[in-house]
Amino acid sequence: MGLEVAEHSAEGAYVYGPEGEAYLDCLGGPGVFTIGHRHPKVIAALKQQLDLMPLSSHILLDPVMAEAAEKVAGIAPGACEFVFFCNSGAEAIEGALKAARSHTRRPGFVCAEGGFHGKTFGALSASGRDVYKADFEPLLQGFTHVPFGDADALATAVGNDTAAVLLEPIQCENGIIVPPDGYLATAREICDARGALLILDEVQTGLGRTGRMWACDHDGVSPDIIALGKALGGGAMPIGAFVATEAVWDIFDQNPYVHTSTFGGNPMACRAASVALDVVTEENIAGLCAERGARLLAGMRQVADEFGNVIADVRGRGLLVGVEFVDPDIANLVIAGLVGERILTAFALNQPRVVRFEPPAVITSEEIDRVIGVMRQASADTVEMLGL
Ligand SMILES: Cc1ncc(COP(=O)(O)O)c(C=O)c1O
Repeated sequence: MGLEVAEHSAEGAYVYGPEGEAYLDCLGGPGVFTIGHRHPKVIAALKQQLDLMPLSSHILLDPVMAEAAEKVAGIAPGACEFVFFCNSGAEAIEGALKAARSHTRRPGFVCAEGGFHGKTFGALSASGRDVYKADFEPLLQGFTHVPFGDADALATAVGNDTAAVLLEPIQCENGIIVPPDGYLATAREICDARGALLILDEVQTGLGRTGRMWACDHDGVSPDIIALGKALGGGAMPIGAFVATEAVWDIFDQNPYVHTSTFGGNPMACRAASVALDVVTEENIAGLCAERGARLLAGMRQVADEFGNVIADVRGRGLLVGVEFVDPDIANLVIAGLVGERILTAFALNQPRVVRFEPPAVITSEEIDRVIGVMRQASADTVEMLGL
């Protein structure tokens, strides 16, 4: 597939091989490199932090974490303002699940079929693809899965024992599934009516990726707990966070030691997050994702019109675009064609028929046009090779 080249360095929208070969990064982490690889402000701040104090004493006050938490709280949706930093998206989900159970004193979670929340036990229990779960049974108890986008199924599943409904506002690893308009708003109403919390997993969709700061902004809905990760580290450090309303935070207020992490919220990661959040606002990353995403989506739809026998659908929001092929093997051949032209992308983890495009927001219009052109050629080559 042309993937035998070792990565060596990266900058902006590009990853470079050892000989300087430039690969346009259309996978982007996925969702990690929204502000680009090695953003100069993030790298400068990290070099400075490394010289000062890379890890915390865990005894004295940590102003770097405090600053990052204040910035996260400043942009988090609705009344989500209490922040716990961890090291990954999956950890953010674990924390959110624990917060929901402790606050509601209820056992149940309602999640969506095909959803992806990470691969630790709790996150995996909430996720929806059996191939990643089968070898690790029994997973955690209390998880119910309903079809994504089906408000009636959600209403039926959420009951008096439901601690929380956990959803991605757009299912990313299930192949960039955008739910019907009003679905999240109805989910919010169902939760409120039954006394359950709404947890939104914006690990991949957050921080501008979909053309708004949060994907839930498109629906005017805010959760009780939001999970973050990926782009939060500015494309340079691993960091995740769950952010909750004051009411939900009660248990952590009473005893902060009930949920801790040695490296979670360390000064390097928080410094990267702090600068990344400034960059997201200063450089209008959401606006760039909206504008460039619209161009990418329109171009991919044209390609789909030309190859309707192999491309079943094109969908997305902002710079989060999925192209669904009729068969995973065809998708794989097209991915190989793209990589052969030094455009990096991959299939969605829970839906291998879907090739996804999540480039950094710094990708130019010309580069997007090139991606569309190469996609057209790779589709044509694949159709010819298979005699379709
Ligand atoms: C929506 C979503 N939630 C959670 C995760 C898990 O994040 P991590 O791989 O950092 O644990 C991912 C990773 O792809 C994700 O896309």
